[in-house]
Amino acid sequence: MPADPATPSPTTAAASVRTVLVTGAAGYIGSHTCVELLAAGYRVVGIDNFDNSSSRAVDAIARVAGRPLRFVEGDVADAAVLQRLFADHPIDAVVHFAGLKAVNESVREPLRYYRTNLDSTMTLLEQMAARGVTNLVFSSSCTVYGEPERLPIDESAPLGAVNPYGRTKLIIEDMMRDLAAAEPAWRISLLRYFNPVGAHESGAIGEDPLGIPNGLMPYVMQVAVGRRDKVAVYGNDYETADGTCVRDYIHVVDLAQGHLAALATLERGEPGCRAYNLGTGNGTTVLEMLAASSKAVGHDIAYEIVGRRAGDAPVVYADPTMANRDLGWHATRTIHDMCVDHWRWQSTHPWGFQDPPADAVAS
Ligand code: WQD
Repeated sequence: MPADPATPSPTTAAASVRTVLVTGAAGYIGSHTCVELLAAGYRVVGIDNFDNSSSRAVDAIARVAGRPLRFVEGDVADAAVLQRLFADHPIDAVVHFAGLKAVNESVREPLRYYRTNLDSTMTLLEQMAARGVTNLVFSSSCTVYGEPERLPIDESAPLGAVNPYGRTKLIIEDMMRDLAAAEPAWRISLLRYFNPVGAHESGAIGEDPLGIPNGLMPYVMQVAVGRRDKVAVYGNDYETADGTCVRDYIHVVDLAQGHLAALATLERGEPGCRAYNLGTGNGTTVLEMLAASSKAVGHDIAYEIVGRRAGDAPVVYADPTMANRDLGWHATRTIHDMCVDHWRWQSTHPWGFQDPPADAVAS
């Protein structure tokens, strides 16, 4: 909930924005945002093609929120699907998550990333414009900053993505800035995530990457639950407290609540397109995350120091002042909360939403 009492609660804002379309609703951030929207009194219509998520997440959202959501299985890049969805539901605002998001994969398959992320966004914007829906919250990323020139990173830092995934986010941000400049009706909030981790306290939804996780925490938790042998720590020769990279890890529920604060602000704010960093403003090293995870799971987590991973910046963390001030939002959950909540999800869902393979070894 927004920390600033002057900011109407999402429930108040729901009086004007009643129905929200969430694209990528079955995904990690999307599912957590659906739960917070439903809990705050919004009506939610979700859409997902399940290319990178599970339909089981949709059932879990309704269970956790205690309220149903309307859901459409489909591809946001399919204009006919969106036309039907906007005709069937009185959408007042859109939160746009749908897209591919693995940095390493984007380097291997750049064309698939450009086609998927840009096509879906352009189709969505065209359909929104056609229906006069101009309130939009977009899932952007701190990767639009590329290698940070100064720390902490604030929204005035130079933009310059260094991989195809980050470039799709930057191109989409530019698309939305141009749209808002051309048509004053648009109210757009670009939310630049730092490192989302953790899970809803129920443990019923969480991060469920298909295949080998790119991200640190899903990999750590899969080792903790016995699915994988050990964590490869990518380098300990950086100029940091313990030689491993520093990141701004943020609890996924804090992140989800940042979307509700942005939505409520769009309703009250002036037209235009504004970017906000969603981070805690604190940096934590890889080894510190491993230690916090071991404490949360109750046993040591095996790891091995290996060589650096190409493209890793030594230190990245946010200056969240603008989001704190303009959105009336603050991250409140600690690294311990993130690890405990992530573990509750992983330990109760060793294989996420997937069925365990026949030779499953997880505990
Ligand atoms: C974190 C640290 C690795 C895996 C991600 C997303 C990006 C953006 C920010 C939203 C790094 C180290 C990792 C492993 C390791 N989020 N690591 N062993 O690279 O900061 O970027 O979050 O858009 O999209 O890619 O996150 O979790 O991959 O890595 O040592 O097995 O953990 O070197 O220092 P990253 P990450």
